[in-house]
Amino acid sequence: MSEPKDPAAPLADWLRARYGEAIPAVAAQNDTLRSMARHRTMRHYLDRPVDPALVRTLCAVALAAPSKSDLQQADIVIVEDAGQRAALAALLPDNPWARAAPAFLVFCGNNRRQRRVHELRGHGFANDHLDAFFNAAVEAGIVLGTFVAAAESLGLATCPISAIRNHADEVAKVLTLPPHVFPVAGLCVGWPSGFTAMTPRLPLAATIHTDRHDDTALDAHIAEYDARRDAEKPLRARRRDDLFGAHQPYTWSEDKARQYAQPERTGWGAFVRRIGFRLD
Ligand SMILES: Cc1cc2nc3c(=O)[nH]c(=O)nc-3n(C[C@H](O)[C@H](O)[C@H](O)COP(=O)(O)O)c2cc1C
Repeated sequence: MSEPKDPAAPLADWLRARYGEAIPAVAAQNDTLRSMARHRTMRHYLDRPVDPALVRTLCAVALAAPSKSDLQQADIVIVEDAGQRAALAALLPDNPWARAAPAFLVFCGNNRRQRRVHELRGHGFANDHLDAFFNAAVEAGIVLGTFVAAAESLGLATCPISAIRNHADEVAKVLTLPPHVFPVAGLCVGWPSGFTAMTPRLPLAATIHTDRHDDTALDAHIAEYDARRDAEKPLRARRRDDLFGAHQPYTWSEDKARQYAQPERTGWGAFVRRIGFRLD
């Protein structure tokens, strides 16, 4: 079920294209919902700057997202300096869009402020365990997602870059991140060039549960998604046929299993501990 040609098509049409099933959409004329339902990551941008004032406005909107216990544990580093942009891009040869994007931001979790508040108020921090890291990481993710939704509502294109975490020490150095502040993802921002197809998602029966979590039909859902995804947006780049063979078709589940059959980012835990977190 290919996506509508008309960006102003009804919300239900976008949802049907995304999930391969009819979803009775209430609030069908809501522009915010339609913009969010049309989401897609885009990696090619016009050679046209994004006004720094607009980037700052979008940051302000994104940081208005909900905050766990009102702790406000997300930071955004807007990388404007050409030298720093180049240093980050050099770490990301597999993501050339990070170099080409007119604007580049890094979304960070920040548990340093909370610790400073404890020092200022003279109360010990009695929660120096995994939750301290987890809360800040979740918050950075929420702010990132909110930024993307806000940017797309204006017609901007974005691409998150978690690959920066493959080089966390170097990124922390380039951005002078202090202890207890860590990068969650970069974000390319620009005006879109060309068309990128929307990525279908797993059927909602796999991801929405009512009252009780139920994944008894998971294997069938994955098989259905593999087939639908292959028909709608086949994966073009195959991972390591030399190791895993040239199976046809190359499905989503084959790609994900191949991706995580190889060690990735194994130094991340050590980095997080090095910057001061206890993860017990
Ligand atoms: C936290 C996060 C990290 C991501 N990291 C990368 C990345 O390093 N490089 C990249 O090209 N895309 C990255 N992406 C984009 C995903 O590949 C993309 O969201 C996914 O394929 C689904 O496509 P869609 O966003 O168009 O629906 C990332 C997305 C998220 C949410």
